[in-house]
Amino acid sequence: MFVSSKVLNGLNGIAKIPGDKSISHRSIIIPSIANGITEVNNILKSEDVFKTINALKSMGIKIEEKNNILLIHGSGLHSLSKPKNKIDLGNSGTSARLLIGLLSAQNFESSLFGDHSLSNRPMARIINPLIKMGASIESNNYKLPLIVRGKKLKGITYELDIPSAQVKSGISLAALFLNDQTEIIEKHTTRNHTEIMLKYFDANIEIKKINQNNHIYIKGNKELQSKNIDIPNDLSSAAFFIVAALINNNSQIEMKNINLNPTRDGFLSAIIKMGAQIIIKNKKEVNGEIVGDIHVKHSKLKGCELDKDITKTMIDEFPILAIASSFANSPSIFKGLEELKIKESNRLELIQHNLENCGIYCEINNNNLFIDPTKKSECKSNIIKTNSDHRIAMAFAIMGTMLGINLKILNSEYINTSFPGFSKEINSLGGNISE
Ligand code: S3P
Repeated sequence: MFVSSKVLNGLNGIAKIPGDKSISHRSIIIPSIANGITEVNNILKSEDVFKTINALKSMGIKIEEKNNILLIHGSGLHSLSKPKNKIDLGNSGTSARLLIGLLSAQNFESSLFGDHSLSNRPMARIINPLIKMGASIESNNYKLPLIVRGKKLKGITYELDIPSAQVKSGISLAALFLNDQTEIIEKHTTRNHTEIMLKYFDANIEIKKINQNNHIYIKGNKELQSKNIDIPNDLSSAAFFIVAALINNNSQIEMKNINLNPTRDGFLSAIIKMGAQIIIKNKKEVNGEIVGDIHVKHSKLKGCELDKDITKTMIDEFPILAIASSFANSPSIFKGLEELKIKESNRLELIQHNLENCGIYCEINNNNLFIDPTKKSECKSNIIKTNSDHRIAMAFAIMGTMLGINLKILNSEYINTSFPGFSKEINSLGGNISE
């Protein structure tokens, strides 16, 4: 359990942000089915990513670390072998959705399971399109644990009904193994790290914008060529430090080499709309991804209204955005947050529960979140319930930097799923988080 206490003299310095989680998962899976050795620099060393590494190792892929570089020895599209044991996906939804896609197109059977949180998350969104492609998946009522019986699949045209990069990526990985073409249509843009990396690895992938929709065409059965990958740092992890600097007086934080992929940067637009003073420097492209340095300082924030559309580009940042809104000088409303209910926890419910305990007025109506920081009351409790959700834990650890009481963050060890060393990093800037 973490105890997060008030920061007295601001948070200052350079925050070391770990490698991007989404890109890290893809940087293991895609090189594993490419031809040749891929050197991956700056992989995120977190529990979720270790689950993907172990899954690929159990399928016979040699993955080793040398001088802090991960070496992935790929032997081509058809080189994976039947895993020796059941694949443990832990807490990682990204590992689950991406690997179910990959495994559906193999010529062997595999069993997958996850922890309590992952076993309660919906898998129908990935199972249904794969079944349309001819996959054979036996699940526990569309949840984990499940058995994937690998098969020769056929190409389909699939319109994503739920905006999900994990689903899009799972289908794309399966599509790499087919003789014919798969077309994925997305009405709402979601993070495109898979498309970028597949292009970089010479896959037969084409993306067209037709009537505002993204059409992704993948022709399979083409060998991928290994390329070295430099993973940028994670904007979703940086978001906690950005808000920490914004709400604490006398704070100024710099973060280097942060992923600024425009399909993923809604949080920056939102926080700038709220009055954040943010400067981006050294913007450049690395392996197809846009990266840059973020400078942020304490700012007077105002509330804002966010429409459903922007939620897709900042889905993981709502817990910390809710904390920022709690220190603005006017109310905020964030619309269309239904997907937040089925993340690592029901984030919508936990944001409300914990904000109310901290004395912040908050309402949820039709999946819209309304926060009114002008109606502050006494803290009701200093216990933060996280239901083992890393982002709820980190968001409320940042809340603790501003309150007069010590916040006790339950199950804070789950922060290791995405950000080992989080409290140490906050403390190195002047924070006060103890275990
Ligand atoms: C991710 C996609 C998002 C995001 C998750 C990582 C990815 O999930 O919430 O943390 O790496 O593709 P959805 O695809 O469910 O929106």
